[in-house]
Amino acid sequence: MMHNALQVFTGTANRSLAERMCEHLNVRLGNASVTRFPDTEIRVKIEDDVRGADAFVVQSTCPPVNENLMELVLLIDALRRASAERITAVIPYYGYARQDRKDEGRVPISAKLVANMITTAGADRVLCLDLHAAQLQGFFDLPVDHLYASPVLTRYFRRLQIPDLVVVAPDVGSSKLARGYSKRLGAGLAIVDKRRVTDRDTEVLTVIGDVKGKNILLIDDMISTAGSIAAAAKSVHKLGAKEVYLAATHPILCGNAMERLDEAPVRQVVVTDTIPIPEKNARPYLKVLSVARLLGEAVMRIHHAESISRLFDSEFED
Ligand code: R5P
Repeated sequence: MMHNALQVFTGTANRSLAERMCEHLNVRLGNASVTRFPDTEIRVKIEDDVRGADAFVVQSTCPPVNENLMELVLLIDALRRASAERITAVIPYYGYARQDRKDEGRVPISAKLVANMITTAGADRVLCLDLHAAQLQGFFDLPVDHLYASPVLTRYFRRLQIPDLVVVAPDVGSSKLARGYSKRLGAGLAIVDKRRVTDRDTEVLTVIGDVKGKNILLIDDMISTAGSIAAAAKSVHKLGAKEVYLAATHPILCGNAMERLDEAPVRQVVVTDTIPIPEKNARPYLKVLSVARLLGEAVMRIHHAESISRLFDSEFED
């Protein structure tokens, strides 16, 4: 049990998520200014007294990834130098996660370097949500609490009571995630065998499993250019699926993702608010569920040194 005051700060990546978390926590969002010098360098200043605090910095490293990452490490550095007792980096979306191994010669392991940067800045712990690969936890030599958005997404889809539902993984890498959802929703499971052609384009090789005449829930950790999930939606539709729903935790929605989603044969796309969605990308078919309560509850439990494993199984209202 930490007796020090719980204080929450945020950069500019997703201020509204931090505000919503603070509402659930019943604490005031801390004052920190994050501005730019004329030469574009980032200037951070913690405006509150944080000496001895149990400080949490909420910052998704979403696009603009490098700016948001730099804000995060500067905020951590500022808190450390201002004598915060403990600093937890709350990273709802962890950028660079897909560069987690040397899959060809002479490339960096960017996800590991980012973990080193966050550690060197002075984080004592990390709280994150639906990391691209759970093994990324091991890139930190710090305690990492890894939450899943599934309690929020599962609750939503359970309430829709979709009959003849089959959960489909848009690639083999997402099959474990999809298996979890199919189990929790009591639905079938199918897997799309995808091949990445370029950074932006993918090709579907085959669909493993029965999708004909079924309602489909395609599930992934993120929608980036929407190449993977839109191609998978088209394939299951071509194979005679009824209605197709897409769900993903992190709506990066970059490149021509919105055009791809607009054209995809889907009824609804369900995402969370780990990454803010600009007004221009709002669509009637795009439903955003909030993970603020889930993250807020985790922050409270970390502060009180209580178990957060309960948050893995329960269903969470957004
Ligand atoms: C792949 O390993 C990920 O889980 C996502 O399927 C993929 O990175 C999403 O990217 P995009 O939307 O650009 O296809």
